[in-house]
Amino acid sequence: MDYQTIKVETADEVTTITFNRPERRNAMNPRMHVEMVDALTTLEYDDGCRVLVLTGAGESFCAGQDLKEYFYDLDEDPSARARARKAAETWRSHLLRLFPKPTIAAINGYCFGGAFTIVASCDFAIAADNAKFGLSEINFGKLPGGHVTKVVNDLLHPRDALYYIMTGKSFDAQKAADIKLVTMTVPRDRLWDEVNDLATTLKEKNPIVLRMAKEAYKYGRDMNWEEAGAWLTAKSQALDAMSGATWKKGVEQFKAGKYRPGLGNYEWKEGDPKE
Ligand code: COA
Repeated sequence: MDYQTIKVETADEVTTITFNRPERRNAMNPRMHVEMVDALTTLEYDDGCRVLVLTGAGESFCAGQDLKEYFYDLDEDPSARARARKAAETWRSHLLRLFPKPTIAAINGYCFGGAFTIVASCDFAIAADNAKFGLSEINFGKLPGGHVTKVVNDLLHPRDALYYIMTGKSFDAQKAADIKLVTMTVPRDRLWDEVNDLATTLKEKNPIVLRMAKEAYKYGRDMNWEEAGAWLTAKSQALDAMSGATWKKGVEQFKAGKYRPGLGNYEWKEGDPKE
């Protein structure tokens, strides 16, 4: 697919998708949603992509839904609206939230409304200290729909959630880190160092173990005690079957005094026929 609203680049097994409508502060129009479905579906099966980073071109991460092209222009066209909504939900609620590799939101600037679902769907979110956040829907007469309220419910304390939903006040990156909307905030000029350090840490882990650990957490969140126990046992057994019980390699290296699991990684590639 010929992308017009995003850029997809891979270097050293880290793929960066850049929302690329800086003249619209990277607001998500229907075309962007379709392109994101295509890009994420492709990258899911691309072995060259081990870590996925999402960011925005220029000084904005993403200004939410495109208020004109997504909301206003499609209001009278229910089928076009339904197509756009399905694509919008598919990439954020399914493809990105359950992406089988680690995902990092590199928040370089404005992050409003619908962009909260991108932040929440990523495993990690690192915000530059100049970034500005807000649930601005109330300011233009809407409520935060399209799963925005759902992710706010999942991530934030009810006091913070209702404060920002009902006042529409914007807040800075430090506040976003304090209320745990993002993993951390860093000075703007350190954003990419921090993202690259995290990507390197993640690349040092065995990808199948990372994937299963993420799935175990994400799919297991709403289970009760008994369900969670059974689910985690099944997931561990599936991981052993898929990885050839790679954990034994880790424990054997520990027994041989080669490393300390509390302080570092085992050599998961050791003896791998592909090496
Ligand atoms: N939808 C559609 N267009 C948007 C947009 C959005 N969400 N956010 C910005 N744009 C457009 C502006 O209309 C403007 O277009 P124009 O040059 O044709 O007038 C252009 O992007 C630049 O925006 P501008 O407002 O001039 O930039 P700014 O840097 O002064 O302010 C924001 C940036 C993000 C604070 C401001 O654009 C804004 O409030 N946007 C809406 C954010 C929002 O409510 N998002 C929630 C949607 S769910």
